[in-house]
Amino acid sequence: MLVCSATSFFPSLFVDDPMARFRTLDTLEVRNKIVLLRADLNVPMKDGNVTDTTRLVRIIPTLQDLTQKGARVVILSHLGRPKGQHNPDYSLRPVAQALETLWKAPIAFAEDCIGPKAQEAIDALKPGNLLVLENTRFYEGEEKNDPVFAQKLADLGDVFVHDAFSTAHRAHASTEGLARLLPCAAGRLMEAELNALERALGNPEHPVAALVGGSKISTKIELLQNLISRVDVLALGGGMANTFLAAQGLNVGRSLYEADMLETARTIAATAEARGCQILLPEDAVVAESLENNIATRTVPVQALPPDMMILDIGPQSIKKIGEALSRCKTVVWNGPLGAFETKPFDEATSAVAQIVSHLTKKKEILSVAGGGDTVAALTHAGVVDDLSYVSTAGGAFLEWMEGKTLPGVAALEAAA
Ligand code: 3PG
Repeated sequence: MLVCSATSFFPSLFVDDPMARFRTLDTLEVRNKIVLLRADLNVPMKDGNVTDTTRLVRIIPTLQDLTQKGARVVILSHLGRPKGQHNPDYSLRPVAQALETLWKAPIAFAEDCIGPKAQEAIDALKPGNLLVLENTRFYEGEEKNDPVFAQKLADLGDVFVHDAFSTAHRAHASTEGLARLLPCAAGRLMEAELNALERALGNPEHPVAALVGGSKISTKIELLQNLISRVDVLALGGGMANTFLAAQGLNVGRSLYEADMLETARTIAATAEARGCQILLPEDAVVAESLENNIATRTVPVQALPPDMMILDIGPQSIKKIGEALSRCKTVVWNGPLGAFETKPFDEATSAVAQIVSHLTKKKEILSVAGGGDTVAALTHAGVVDDLSYVSTAGGAFLEWMEGKTLPGVAALEAAA
């Protein structure tokens, strides 16, 4: 991942801007201060080990900035969903160790995020030192955004830095609550995410294309409704495209589709047309009898889908159409794979479109932003994850942002500016 690229690629919306919506680390006084840093250390784990350090790598610029300025940095995060109970399976200790390995210098760990254990560990910090506190979700007050719990956290520090865009859709004590209690600013990662997202959908260069895949319309209705009023082209793939095809009266055979969403799909298509947003549906599809690795496949026009088969990827003609549309655009935003990419050969269309996005981005013809767990996995699989202008590690927050929702973590930073 290009850890620092986003901040340098996107001119900041916030720094030195009299109309700045957020404070950044450029204007927050942190020297000799105890900085409570909300990071997202919610990383994938297996057998007690971190299996993907991307989110840890991404906070390094903020850690560098703060430690170089002589701050004492106290990192707060959740891990998993322990539901307000102390549960050693969700301890942040192994994550703190993985961060220490990346940081190449000692990082302290405290077995509690409030109270005497946290306080003692903080008292031992010297300027430039780092400390990770135990999982904030070991307390019910975290997810309830309980003011008493938030105050206990706030009492530990002097200032608050929010660097966890991927939690910004949650109004929790260590995110939204702290922003109301302490002087606060966005960290470098939050700043980079918000700048990238603003460029992609908030205030983008048109024409804008959105690539949306994934299995169901029902989970992405709000996202589709928001996109059709903001983008010029909406290219659909994955299972959700099947519902749109069925809504046009096509027989989609045994393909995954949502029979109760046909009317919704028709309404979205009609609204898009009225707003001048072109919806690109697959023209051909790769079909098979079942979703299995290396099973026999056929490529057929969508008008001739065999009734005993299922659509598992979009076909070459559809890829070509998407490529042509993208080459006419200035901005591309992507969420969701276009086929069943985890099973070969149904990864081909997603990888081919990923190559096109990569190529156009490298030629500086488009600005490209992607996000969501599956999308990042698909881009990594295609070998182009570092080529896009910005790839967000946020899942739910990225989706809610694409839906046009106000994210409480961002709104709190805005309110505090
Ligand atoms: C994420 O992984 O998307 C964030 O860390 C938020 O996690 P949550 O969905 O458990 O709140």
